[in-house]
Amino acid sequence: MRRTGFLQASGGAMIVAALPPLSKRAAASDVVDYTLAAEPLRYSPVPGLNFPGLAFNGTIPGPLLRIVHGQRLRAKFVNKSGQGSTIHWHGMILPNKMDGADGVTQPAVPAGGSFLYEFAPDPPGTRWYHDHVSNGLLRGLFGMIIVEDPRDERADAEFALVFHDVPKLSTVAPAMMGVGKAPMVDPLGSPELVQMAPDDKMGDEVAFTAHCINGAAYPNTKRLAVKVGQHVRLRILNANPTQTRYVRLAGHRLIVTHSDGNPLPQPVEVDALRVGVAERYDAWFEVSAPGAWLLQGLSSDSLAYEQAAVVHTEGMESAPPLASPQSLEGVDYFTYQKAGGTGSLLPAQQGARYDFTLDDGKYGSSRWTINGKTYPNTPKIDVHRNDLVSVRFLNKTDMDHPMHLHGHVFQVTEIDGVALARPLSKDTSLVRANGGTLSWSFRADSPPGRWLLHCHNAIHMMDGMMTEVVYRQ
Ligand code: C2O
Ligand code: CU
Repeated sequence: MRRTGFLQASGGAMIVAALPPLSKRAAASDVVDYTLAAEPLRYSPVPGLNFPGLAFNGTIPGPLLRIVHGQRLRAKFVNKSGQGSTIHWHGMILPNKMDGADGVTQPAVPAGGSFLYEFAPDPPGTRWYHDHVSNGLLRGLFGMIIVEDPRDERADAEFALVFHDVPKLSTVAPAMMGVGKAPMVDPLGSPELVQMAPDDKMGDEVAFTAHCINGAAYPNTKRLAVKVGQHVRLRILNANPTQTRYVRLAGHRLIVTHSDGNPLPQPVEVDALRVGVAERYDAWFEVSAPGAWLLQGLSSDSLAYEQAAVVHTEGMESAPPLASPQSLEGVDYFTYQKAGGTGSLLPAQQGARYDFTLDDGKYGSSRWTINGKTYPNTPKIDVHRNDLVSVRFLNKTDMDHPMHLHGHVFQVTEIDGVALARPLSKDTSLVRANGGTLSWSFRADSPPGRWLLHCHNAIHMMDGMMTEVVYRQ
């Protein structure tokens, strides 16, 4: 089965959020061909905004890519963006030279150049792809890729939703210098706000001028049509480069089944998702009555209302939708502890252990460090094949850090000194501010090479909070 024709026929459009069921005739020999062309795009999701974006195939986000687990992906990257670029396949275990890490696994594809990414996407689940050179991700070079798991429970309806925001580019350089003036916009009652000292000058925040879901801002976001009695699956990505997103569907509880595309040990029912930068969640809900409800990203930004889409049953498309307050107070939101359960004693340490202290980033600082160093001078993790490795982060800064490892799925085993009863399989995990700790363990059984480990906050990453897992031998 070749899906190139399908993608062209549908215009490569993320505009169509509803996912048709995929054919189950996939065989391991199937190759799915996509072409991803990065090009400048004047992007105006809200009136008066004229953002100098970069887009894959003419849309921000880029096209939704879908493949059945077991198929091979062949993605031809054509770089017409005018600057060096690569594509990183976030959350995939793949040959190192396909990982798209600029200067580590390949040189940046120059403007006017092209590169063929070819691999069998693994593991299955909700993943994403993005530029891994300079500011490409900030300017719009990102999209979702779903590696469908044929063993998954069937949804009656399914929607892929990329939450993203348009940065004010002039605020990026001051944020990198630690002297930015953009305010925090986390919702009332969020741990982000609670963690901050009242007199704190952040300095590293980026300002955002529009808040979008799948390319549009409310009220122009695509409506999600559902039917009474349906069991609906949402696949949600937070593609914001710096901010955690809280996501809530008015009038409904959400049943979370996957984190970063990987199945949770058991489903967790919550009022809202907490989605760190680069994280993904799969969440389900039941449509038990006719109605119209807002699915919203919560924040205290005055433009927060823009990040919303209407979910409605038949005949309710123009009913005023039920909304949630832009606050987290009293809201039962997703945490790793809820998903993993706590209370067991810390297990005896196995394998090699690395202790990484995350620090710096004080007002006026352009350094975000691991053990006092910035990349490439940070301590590396050297592994031999099949080593069991654990990494324990201690966060001395006053912000959470979404720490990400390329090319592996790790298990979150410990948070703030308490072991998780059921470790969580993830590729990105928020490490709590102000002395929080979090541990991962992973088996070094990925293809050999150099795999980046970094904070996915774009400012912190560019300012040095990055290292590598290096396979020796
Ligand atoms: Cu989303 Cu270095 O990656
Ligand atoms: Cu960070």
